[in-house]
Amino acid sequence: MARSKPSPLESLLDSPRVRDAARTLIDAVREEAAERTLAPQAYEKALRQLGRLRGRPLLYPFLAQGLGRGARVTLADGTTKLDFIGGIGVYGMGHSDREFLEVAVVAAAGDTVFQGHLQPGPEYLRLSRALLRHAGPRLKHVWLSVSGAMANENALKMIHQKRHPADRIVAFERGFAGRTLAMAELTDQPAFREGLPLRGNVLTVPFFDPSDPDSTQRSLDALDAHLSRHPGRVAGMLFELVQGEGGIHTAPREFFVALMEHCRRAQVAVWVDEVQTFARTREIFAFQTLDLADHVDVVTVGKMLQASAVLFTHAYNPRPGLIAGTYAGSTVGMAVGASLIERLEHEGYLGPDGRIAVLGRRVDRRFESLQKRMPHAVGPRSGIGAMQAFVPFDGSSPVASTVMQAAFEEGLLLFSAGDRPTKIRMLLPLNITDEELESGFAMLEKAIRRVGEELQIPC
Ligand SMILES: Cc1ncc(COP(=O)(O)O)c(C=O)c1O
Repeated sequence: MARSKPSPLESLLDSPRVRDAARTLIDAVREEAAERTLAPQAYEKALRQLGRLRGRPLLYPFLAQGLGRGARVTLADGTTKLDFIGGIGVYGMGHSDREFLEVAVVAAAGDTVFQGHLQPGPEYLRLSRALLRHAGPRLKHVWLSVSGAMANENALKMIHQKRHPADRIVAFERGFAGRTLAMAELTDQPAFREGLPLRGNVLTVPFFDPSDPDSTQRSLDALDAHLSRHPGRVAGMLFELVQGEGGIHTAPREFFVALMEHCRRAQVAVWVDEVQTFARTREIFAFQTLDLADHVDVVTVGKMLQASAVLFTHAYNPRPGLIAGTYAGSTVGMAVGASLIERLEHEGYLGPDGRIAVLGRRVDRRFESLQKRMPHAVGPRSGIGAMQAFVPFDGSSPVASTVMQAAFEEGLLLFSAGDRPTKIRMLLPLNITDEELESGFAMLEKAIRRVGEELQIPC
């Protein structure tokens, strides 16, 4: 039987000729890149120059070479580091993942580098479909964009238009929503909005506190107080189901259900920010992990997706003119994002016994054993799946920074989260191997011991 003509909507990687050519190019690039390293002095100079150009130095003396493998990344001076933070949650399959490189190379050889909403290509359609395939029956539409903050801006505009003239938004204490002016106001971090003109339309409620048996009631009371003080004026409530920048805090399902049901009764939009949780909590969306699909109106995603988007119910579809933007995303980002979702589906990552959940349990065991050996240095832990954190020593910010710098010197990349206490955060690649995990924890242990000795504090 004659083979039917392939569709332009299918991945060109299905063609053996295209795949072979992609592999050849990737091999050539990797071989060439591997031969290029900077001598120590030239590396230092490049870092200093980068600091000058940015107007401030980098947090770590880190300049990538352009090569890596799995959780390991090679720096331009030829040294390698274990990357347990992945570009703050972006490199979901680690570095130089073969499948992603092939998808990316083929997408990069396509018609345009970026795609907009006026002239979308097949990658735009594939990514939109892939996102909605997983989003449940309520979320019917998706609008792509180029950063988590931009997806959140679109979400905010849709909510305000739908709930007009309600002009207030409720957000959690310690939450983070992004770096635009509006998102800086929704973010509960004074330093992130210092000097900015604020609109004063954000109302906060406390996030779940596991040490307080009345925590849910306290948050409900705070929401109630806002609703009664501003009758008809509260448009939406922003939910970060696992607070990432705030210190990797989550809450039981009942906490969110209580608040979301309250929002529903008060006609307040339920807006879930999944920019950091996307594909990290064992389902594609944390609202699925927590079984909240029936409650959400608007959901934003980003980071690991290599693109960003807002997903929304029919009721929140805005009138023409409200959302647009030149870029919907890069062709490579969209293609890799769609491929990520397909891989999560087909390579056993999802579900209570999928690879993301199992990774969370592997990390738990490693932390438990570290905590036994260093009870004063490894304090309270929090985390789910591929997002994890712990309080180092007393949780003061300078000590946490010292541990992170020591870990970097040992060969491990980590990042902070939250404040009072400051935690050390891991946003792990979903496909991290046991060997990589073990090496990383061995480096962490060495770093902690060094800091304990230097600062003369017991581990
Ligand atoms: C929960 C959350 N929302 C929004 C953002 C903003 O995303 P972006 O930095 O891509 O604008 C982030 C980034 O860290 C985030 O963690």
